[in-house]
Amino acid sequence: MAFTRSVDPQQIGLTAAAAGSLSTQEYSSPSEQEANGLPPVINVRDLEFSFDGQVRLFSHLDFTLSPGEKVGLLGPNGSGKTTFLHILMGLIPACAGTIEILGRVRRHPSDFRDLPGQVGLLFQDSDDQLFCPTVAEDVAFGPFNQGKSPREVREIVRQTLDKLGLAGWESRITYRLSGGEKRLVALATVLAMEPQLLLLDEPTAGLDESACARVEKILSALPQSMVIVSHDRGFLQRICHRVLVLKDGRLSLCHA
Ligand SMILES: Nc1ncnc2c1ncn2[C@@H]1O[C@H](COP(=O)(O)OP(=O)(O)OP(=O)(O)O)[C@@H](O)[C@H]1O
Ligand SMILES: [Mg+2]
Repeated sequence: MAFTRSVDPQQIGLTAAAAGSLSTQEYSSPSEQEANGLPPVINVRDLEFSFDGQVRLFSHLDFTLSPGEKVGLLGPNGSGKTTFLHILMGLIPACAGTIEILGRVRRHPSDFRDLPGQVGLLFQDSDDQLFCPTVAEDVAFGPFNQGKSPREVREIVRQTLDKLGLAGWESRITYRLSGGEKRLVALATVLAMEPQLLLLDEPTAGLDESACARVEKILSALPQSMVIVSHDRGFLQRICHRVLVLKDGRLSLCHA
């Protein structure tokens, strides 16, 4: 089955026949949004990338994300999932291809400058995300930069921590948190900004069962478009409209 959640394929611009055929073919990113008239949130065409100029991590890679769509990304260690998210965010330049995010083609580093705030990237390593002394300061950083007032920011911090089961954690020292605790706070820093697009690199890695369930419930309920990288196929299949596998530089649909 191509779609891993109960979703009308036409809602995201695929005919049932096309959806069916995709389950047996390499995923070729048809122009899904053209059918419903909405521009894609992400539109990647012919992406080429290698770190060393020799071994290609991606070759002719196409990817499209529709408004409101949640796409899961599985793949072996080292297949390039994190690198792909970093290229989408402009942290690593592509070697060739076209990258369109939120309606604009992004070629040069300066084209990506408006993305923080609109696009929330959860780093695979929480230590790359958290840089303030306390939890409150880390979670407040994004909303402050979005121009929110101190009062609004305090309320956002309180609500976001509460939602993630971290109520009252404002004054905890970030560097002393456990790995799973850091993961949840890192997620709080991303969710606090309410970005239009979420790129989440292993949001449940290192979390206990109840924290995983909480994160799953939160992400399922969010209306934003998102790409979620995980090694937990069941988690992705429960919350995503599509689950793709990145392997040998190519994307293909994951079979249920
Ligand atoms: N800065 C770099 N320079 C050279 N090679 C790199 C660099 N960063 C990553 N790589 C290599 O690129 C490949 C893809 O790495 P990446 O972190 O994107 O994989 P991944 O799919 O996210 O893996 P995992 O599931 O383990 O998180 C790996 O072989 C990695 O060693
Ligand atoms: Mg990774």
